[in-house]
Amino acid sequence: MRTATRTMHLDAIVHNLGRVHHLAPNANILAMVKANAYGHGVANVLPALQTFADSLEDSNRLALGVATLQEAIELRKLGWSHSIGVIEGVFSFDEWQMAHQIQAQCVIHQHEQVEWALSDVPSDGSPTRKIWLKLNTGMNRLGFEPNEITSVAKTLNNAEYDLILTSHFANADDVSHPLNRKQIQTFNNVLVRLKSQVSQNIQASLCNSEGVINFPDCHYNWVRPGIMLYGSSPIIDKSAEDLNLRPAMIFGAKVMAIHHLQVGQAVGYGSRFVCERPTVKGIISVGYGDGYPRVVTDEAWVSVVSNGETYQCPIIGRVAMDMIAMDLTNVPEPKIADDVVLWGNANLGHPSVDDVASWAGTIGYELLCRTTGRPIKNVT
Ligand SMILES: Cc1ncc(COP(=O)(O)O)c(C=O)c1O
Repeated sequence: MRTATRTMHLDAIVHNLGRVHHLAPNANILAMVKANAYGHGVANVLPALQTFADSLEDSNRLALGVATLQEAIELRKLGWSHSIGVIEGVFSFDEWQMAHQIQAQCVIHQHEQVEWALSDVPSDGSPTRKIWLKLNTGMNRLGFEPNEITSVAKTLNNAEYDLILTSHFANADDVSHPLNRKQIQTFNNVLVRLKSQVSQNIQASLCNSEGVINFPDCHYNWVRPGIMLYGSSPIIDKSAEDLNLRPAMIFGAKVMAIHHLQVGQAVGYGSRFVCERPTVKGIISVGYGDGYPRVVTDEAWVSVVSNGETYQCPIIGRVAMDMIAMDLTNVPEPKIADDVVLWGNANLGHPSVDDVASWAGTIGYELLCRTTGRPIKNVT
């Protein structure tokens, strides 16, 4: 049988949630599990989130964040009973009513959503009475402008909704980017205004993973970490190990074929790699059909565990749909079924998902989300 695997390490997710709690001890956590928990499988990771919630004095301090109502419905089907936040909000009045039914909290970022909320106010005590009111502070993606949000907040407050003012950073991965401070200032100004003109009870939420790490003075009532929960670094010049984050996904395979090539022989599609020395070449049965990016540069390597030692082995030739070739010349006695890690734990000598992302000109988020259902999935 094919040996490509994606192994999810739930202890890593619990550890990473602990890091968030350590960095933002006074904030509640909306743990982002959108896009199938950043590709890890929401059903796979839910036990880790539940374990962490149970370890808190008040388990309601952990809620889950999704992008859409469909993702919220899936969480309820899987048995998640605590709060859920839907960060894109609902797309129709029917969805708004469905949000009541499944007791989800919604972002409201535009006027039609306000109308739906006013036409059908959930009963007292319903979680849907809590609204995440989105402010555009400079990302220019979603949200009300600073000069229109007070009247929206007043309207919703008069209809007895509880409000959490929320916004999103555009550049929080780069702590020195000037827009960060502008966004924070706009957010603070609006928060002060809403508290004085609308309600003192308005809560606030600004920080994703990058903000949790880079802006400790902006944690407010709720932080919304995503990528750091899965052990990929959210910060431009820091690795996951620098931040004491553990990778939740190990992407692996086993050597399926070994060949000895002569100088001048070429490997794979396009004959892109030509041997400059006698080369021991190994093949693994995994490729872009499994989610490993085809576009990696010649810097790309995998780690191979052979006779208990770990070796860095360059990828040679083009990554294909189902197979990847690597140079095993420096491995003393390579064998069929030796373990190979495509991305995993840098502390164990593996390339990290962030390394692979840099070879592919993208970010860890995209690679994690784009892993396919094809590799065997393990949860440990
Ligand atoms: C509104 C919002 N909050 C939080 C997050 C989580 O961000 P990150 O994964 O960078 O922590 C996202 C991610 O896209 C988001 O869109």
